[in-house]
Amino acid sequence: MKNQFAHDVLEGLNSTPKTLPSKYFYDKKGDELFRQIMELDEYYLTRCEYEIFQTCKDDLLKVFANSSHKFNLVEFGAGDGYKTKVLLSHFLSKGADFQYVPIDISGNVLKLLENSLKQEMPDLAVNGIRNDYFKALEQLENGGTRNVIFFLGSNIGNFKYEQAVSFLSELYENLRKGDLLLIGFDLKKDPEVILSAYDDNEGVTREFNMNLLDRINNELEGSFDRNTFKHCPSYNPLTGTTESFLVSTEEQTIEIMDSAVHFEAWEAIHTEISQKYSLTNIHDMARQVGFTVKNNFFDQQRYFVDSVWEK
Ligand code: AVI
Repeated sequence: MKNQFAHDVLEGLNSTPKTLPSKYFYDKKGDELFRQIMELDEYYLTRCEYEIFQTCKDDLLKVFANSSHKFNLVEFGAGDGYKTKVLLSHFLSKGADFQYVPIDISGNVLKLLENSLKQEMPDLAVNGIRNDYFKALEQLENGGTRNVIFFLGSNIGNFKYEQAVSFLSELYENLRKGDLLLIGFDLKKDPEVILSAYDDNEGVTREFNMNLLDRINNELEGSFDRNTFKHCPSYNPLTGTTESFLVSTEEQTIEIMDSAVHFEAWEAIHTEISQKYSLTNIHDMARQVGFTVKNNFFDQQRYFVDSVWEK
């Protein structure tokens, strides 16, 4: 894993333009910073999806259970299950016939989630799988039970469009006819609202980006001085793309293990994309991959949508 990290960092920093993969944000410190981001006033995404689950839980159950059929609620990248628990407890209280299958690559995350569920919802059937998403789907023996896949939180937004289509196509191939996907998209809106979600006043998102430099220093003998980099997010309303950059404020050379990486003054490292979608974009994407859009569930402000797609 460390070798993969070193390989990806050096490859990214030796590319033009320079890049670092956003998946490396999420070490222990990065997980904690992301938890703080989700509580920020400016970061509306988590609150909107929570509101959707609160207000649409009955309708969601109707769609998933399709006149009281059994289903597997399979969550990709389950994390702490904060939003999903709203639905799990509601579905339990309604006597729905389902099991919860959280999938996460981190065994530690799964253990914490399973322990909290055991305490909060002892009657819930939980079958966590520690693996990558598609391998976990193969592992899931379900004897014909309908799968309802959850891919929440605008995680799809961290893929470029072509990557998103290829990820969803692979998912489509791994599902059976009648299976569902509940996928969360952040919608295009006032550019100021979007930009401030990635440039909060407290500077937590700045820390989240800078943590990547600290991580390279700590794990790969890097020599980054975070005082010589600026966190610079941008939003392009034409394409709906939010991007984050770390910009070198001076010409400098950074050592990483046995390599040296040169920066010109004001040269940028691209660290993350967070794509925003219109409803037309979402319907086009579903159609391109082969899914049918069954329902769209919105928060009151129409900032976010949880879209239900059927194979
Ligand atoms: C995890 N992901 C959906 C977040 C987003 O909004 O793109 C990550 C994030 N980056 C900065 N703030 C939050």
